Amino acid sequence: MLKAVILIGGPLKGTRFRPLSLDIPKPLFPVAGLPMIQHHIEACVSVPNLKEILILGYYPASELTQFVAAMVQEYKINIRYLQEFMALGTAGGIYHFRDQIRLGSPEAFFILNGDVCADFPLVEMLEFHQQKGNKPLMTMLTTEATRQQSVHFGCIVQDRDTHEVTHYVEKPSTFVSTLINCGVYLCSLELFHTIATVFNARQQEYYNDGAGNGKEVIQLERDVLMPLAGTGRLFAMPTNNWWSQIKTAGAAIYANRHYLELYRSHSKERLVERGPAAGDGSKCSIIGDVHIHPTASVHHTATLGPNVSIGSNASIGPGVRIRESIVLSGASIANHSLILHSIVGRLSSVGQWSRVEGTPCDPNPNKPFAKMDNYSLFNSDGRLNPSITILGCSVTVPPEVILLNSIVLPYKELTRSFKNEIIL
Ligand code: GTP
Repeated sequence: MLKAVILIGGPLKGTRFRPLSLDIPKPLFPVAGLPMIQHHIEACVSVPNLKEILILGYYPASELTQFVAAMVQEYKINIRYLQEFMALGTAGGIYHFRDQIRLGSPEAFFILNGDVCADFPLVEMLEFHQQKGNKPLMTMLTTEATRQQSVHFGCIVQDRDTHEVTHYVEKPSTFVSTLINCGVYLCSLELFHTIATVFNARQQEYYNDGAGNGKEVIQLERDVLMPLAGTGRLFAMPTNNWWSQIKTAGAAIYANRHYLELYRSHSKERLVERGPAAGDGSKCSIIGDVHIHPTASVHHTATLGPNVSIGSNASIGPGVRIRESIVLSGASIANHSLILHSIVGRLSSVGQWSRVEGTPCDPNPNKPFAKMDNYSLFNSDGRLNPSITILGCSVTVPPEVILLNSIVLPYKELTRSFKNEIIL
């Protein structure tokens, strides 16, 4: 049997995702109608013989309880949240909870970073790992980035024939390779011996010279992958599937588009049928991929799509036009307003004849494996990078204003138009 671990970090992580992570833990932010890590859970559930999913993080357990209970009920599989007593790093928590992971002697376990989104090829990874016999301690999923993008990721040099990783550098300062780490791994239980070596060395350093506040903190990328490279026990499985990180709110729009596209092949029921409004007023006009929660109300004269997700109990008025956007639960968009490349936060309201608009972040949305650039909110001149417009939760936008490339913090009542501003 197999297990999976999903790393979700904690409240101190995900700062680039603010203000959307101010009222909900980032891993639970809905993308294409599902909490971000529910997509991971669905990928894990589709692996035969995968018996348990452990979610590891340092969010207070109370913030995950309801979600975990809902997931157990929906997928009928063992899912637990294990809370780290502090941020233990991407391998520290795995080591701390090693007995829970080893329980039942799984043949291997997946590790998935909670802040990536993908068409996860977990079954292919398992086959790849098994084909290598007893050799691999770990198989990591890899993809191609551009030279410019690559330095923001873990970069891999591999033997082209055997796919053994010969060299690994995390976020190198100069170019190393365009093959990058996707933050998805399949590990043999023996990996714990390797992490134990790092752990023991840390303890030793601490007792020798008192150095090392956080002596339990272990980073998988720097402390484990880098030394494992070149030992013949670390392998890279390349994928051409869609993959990206979700670091910024802009990346959530990008992920939303791709997950909606994936629904076309395996969860058609989550998409609304495309086409013009129904004559009997039962359906609005739908362009491309659109997800509408069954409890949302959408006026039949509205036009949605492509790439739009509407959350539970949201209300979309007559003549509204929405594209490339996420409208969260309980939000309301009044008559004839326009929402483009934006995220409308929970319980926010947009008055009639207003325009909430961002700039597409992905320079080439039609390039099949283009990765979302997640870097800075500001460019080198200190100006806001062209980005989507984000309304935090419970924001009020008055009628007849324009909000362009702006970020609005929660509970703000706007009284006029804004352009390229962060409204605190
Ligand atoms: P940044 O660009 O700094 O965000 O680095 P990164 O892309 O390499 O991400 P990082 O290694 O910080 O995190 C990878 C994944 O692990 C994310 O899903 C994090 O939420 C998660 N993570 C990071 N630190 C911890 C930790 O201390 N404990 C747990 N359980 N998860 C963590």
